[in-house]
Amino acid sequence: MANPLISVRNLKMYFPVGASFLPGRRKVLKAVDDVSFDLQAGETFGLVGESGCGKTTVGRTLVRLYKPTGGQILLGGTDIAPMDERTVLPYRKRMQMIFQDPYASLNPRMTVSSIIAEPLRLQGAKSEEINARVSELIEQVGLKKDHLNRYPHEFSGGQRQRIGIARALATRPEFIVCDEPISALDVSIQAQVINMLEELQEKLGMTYLFVSHDLSMVRHISHRVGVMYLGHLVELATVEELYSNMQHPYTQALMSAVPVADPDLAAQSQRIVLQGDVPAPIDPPSGCPFRTRCRYASKRCAEERPELRDIGGGHLLACHIH
Ligand SMILES: Nc1ncnc2c1ncn2[C@@H]1O[C@H](COP(=O)(O)OP(=O)(O)O)[C@@H](O)[C@H]1O
Ligand code: SF4
Ligand SMILES: [Mg+2]
Repeated sequence: MANPLISVRNLKMYFPVGASFLPGRRKVLKAVDDVSFDLQAGETFGLVGESGCGKTTVGRTLVRLYKPTGGQILLGGTDIAPMDERTVLPYRKRMQMIFQDPYASLNPRMTVSSIIAEPLRLQGAKSEEINARVSELIEQVGLKKDHLNRYPHEFSGGQRQRIGIARALATRPEFIVCDEPISALDVSIQAQVINMLEELQEKLGMTYLFVSHDLSMVRHISHRVGVMYLGHLVELATVEELYSNMQHPYTQALMSAVPVADPDLAAQSQRIVLQGDVPAPIDPPSGCPFRTRCRYASKRCAEERPELRDIGGGHLLACHIH
């Protein structure tokens, strides 16, 4: 395979929580713990898992909205993980993010024009350059030039997400994190936004990290898929391999919970019910993170965390029973 656009190595993002004024009481929440994967240029990598598993944190850390606690983020071979705000700026324009909630992610007091222009201004672009680019972008996402002087509340959810996409495209990024980009939209609008993301990928050669809990959508849009549980990546494979030969007990449970309009998934699903909730990441289980809900858990699972390893053809799995 060609050199990846981005290589994530042992990425850790820990958040301090609890009362900081009491010495010894301060704990860390390991939102992302030791995650490694590659993103090939032009691919869509789907990231799935229940709410709270760390998907958004992976996305935000990759585009350096957060500074990771540890590990490497190699962008075209350069490690951007340890860089400070200023040093990382030229790299940040190569990576953008589309947010889940188009209502919350657009400043209501800014015009569409200034929203789309913001990343360019932050990069220090000249105003003629900005104006030309903004006109180009508004058309690229299927809106009109006379929309530019309006405010976000004048638009529908789907249109607002288009504005968010135009803003993300402004700096001509190579890589975009799409964090549940359609889950807040009406079903009738979802397909339009997905089609647009796919067209942009084809036209511009874009690389996507597509975060979603909608497994059918991830299957539709992704080339490869990673499954996250409690801050860890537990399985990773091409979409064909994962959806026909899922091996991790968590992946199996997750897939069997999909309302089965998807005939292949329906054939495989034995309706495995996931017991209980995801444990609190502040106090994760020893050994395998999934062991408290796994029906195959053994003594070894409590003692030793399974490494993510290749079980053949690039299918990666972190489970002792394979
Ligand atoms: N800025 C933050 N500060 C403290 N905890 C956070 C922060 N962001 C996320 N978390 C915690 O990290 C875990 C993973 O969250 P998140 O990445 O949002 O998961 P997901 O996107 O899979 O739902 C959750 O337990 C969440 O509460
Ligand atoms: S390592 Fe053990 S607990 Fe974890 S998924 Fe595999 S069998 Fe279940
Ligand atoms: Mg999230």
